[in-house]
Amino acid sequence: MRRKILPVAENLARPSPRDRLLRSKPQRVPRAEPDMDASQSSEKTTSDPNTIRAPTLLIVDDDVGFVHATAEVARLEGFEITIASELGQALHRMRQHDYDLALVDLDLPDGSGLQLLEDIDVQRTHAVIVTGRPTVESALQSLRSSVVDYLVKPICPDRLRELLHAAATDRRIAPPVAPTPNHGMVGASRGFQTVCRMIEKVAPTDAAVLVHGESGVGKELVARAIHEASGRTGPFVAVNCGAVAGELLSSQLFGHEKGSFTGAFSRHLGFLEQAAHGTLFLDEITEMAPVLQTHLLRVLDFGCYRRVGGHADLPVEVRIVSATNRDPREAVASGRLREDLYYRLSGFDIPVPPLRERDGDALRLANAFLAELNTRGGTRHAFAPDTIDAIARAAWPGNVRELRNAVQRSYILAEDGVVRIAPQSFPKPADESSHTITFTIGTSFEEMERRILRKTLQHYGNNRRRAAAALGITARTIRNRLARERGGAATDDDEG
Ligand SMILES: Nc1ncnc2c1ncn2[C@@H]1O[C@H](COP(=O)(O)OP(=O)(O)OP(=O)(O)O)[C@@H](O)[C@H]1O
Ligand SMILES: [Mg+2]
Repeated sequence: MRRKILPVAENLARPSPRDRLLRSKPQRVPRAEPDMDASQSSEKTTSDPNTIRAPTLLIVDDDVGFVHATAEVARLEGFEITIASELGQALHRMRQHDYDLALVDLDLPDGSGLQLLEDIDVQRTHAVIVTGRPTVESALQSLRSSVVDYLVKPICPDRLRELLHAAATDRRIAPPVAPTPNHGMVGASRGFQTVCRMIEKVAPTDAAVLVHGESGVGKELVARAIHEASGRTGPFVAVNCGAVAGELLSSQLFGHEKGSFTGAFSRHLGFLEQAAHGTLFLDEITEMAPVLQTHLLRVLDFGCYRRVGGHADLPVEVRIVSATNRDPREAVASGRLREDLYYRLSGFDIPVPPLRERDGDALRLANAFLAELNTRGGTRHAFAPDTIDAIARAAWPGNVRELRNAVQRSYILAEDGVVRIAPQSFPKPADESSHTITFTIGTSFEEMERRILRKTLQHYGNNRRRAAAALGITARTIRNRLARERGGAATDDDEG
């Protein structure tokens, strides 16, 4: 948790009526009975770190003006507030509940606020000592090396807000989701948990698994998690079926015999053989050339394969996990994926939901990515409060990958340790996402074509080969269209 000693009484700004209250002469809060006897309950309420809840503030002060004004500011900042006017009352509260922030007056009717510090769990609660006596400043200075901050009344409202923001942000960053039960993945939404349960169930079996979902949802992570939880002794070997041309993929996948084609100087073990007793991950399976799909079917049906240029059928024991960001049934319907292969590949299918359908996971992931960057960079950067809200609300059409990139970029650009994601860099709401295009009646074919091309390119991160495959045209056609839009001939810059 971030600890920062706040400077004393910076109250030069012209005060608003509420702000004036923060500086007014103290009136005492009437003595109140603690509303719950400590003996009634020794159980402390702790919240699930994965649930998004309002930040909590405990104000321990008998100065009614200060309490009300502080509570009002904190309420506007989204805090849930508890007030205690005495030490005893505060102790009761703290034994029952963990607060994100405690503002504790130094001089309380029944003792010193410093006594409370022994009871505050500083790992969970950001403790701040407040005093109206500037003369004790030097004594408070001695706390600099310890884990509390201090404030001297009258408190500058901006400082108070800053403190509230820091506590709220720390709170949300503090408990990144424990990675172990999620196979190193971050998430706690219902949809994500369903995926984790499927991984647990299917991993120890030999079933072929088809993982599908939008681009960037974490399909490859799921495939790796299946392998890691499987207990299989061989390696995890990943092949991107869309990245390599058919001929070459054939030899990469099945290997080749020496002299089987020009340049085949020695025998080459294919990915299939390398993945023996492990997992072969076939990414972008729907992009695999039809002839290769036939060969693959043979492997799945008979558990054997043949190297390119070879004559013998070789047995292989391998678990196949494949992935696609297309709807697999549509891929079958459109003839991209052989139907018989689809049934063999999808012995068990895992749909990975898009990030916008995983309640609260965007913030959990953002916090985990920031925590990772902080660890690597030896920093303690925190998100600005409005960025936290915007992260939770954004549609993230590019899913986890897009979120990860946004956090990384804004971390690099952070000023004074505050990480902000500029509003314009937030993706548009889901109904305007890169997955849908809306045309009004009367839009020309030319304009529709231009927008389809732009959106598809955007969807595939400007990867022309993938966009071309999705549109059923060649990368060259895309290159020519883009050049035509610019009113010139295709250049080398258009390659991609
Ligand atoms: N649950 C998660 N926890 C942590 N990081 C994640 C999670 N899901 C995805 N990521 C990260 O997001 C990025 C994209 O994940 P991945 O490559 O697995 O997605 P994908 O669905 O395979 O994408 P594509 O369809 O583009 O191939 C990676 O950096 C990955 O580490
Ligand atoms: Mg992938």
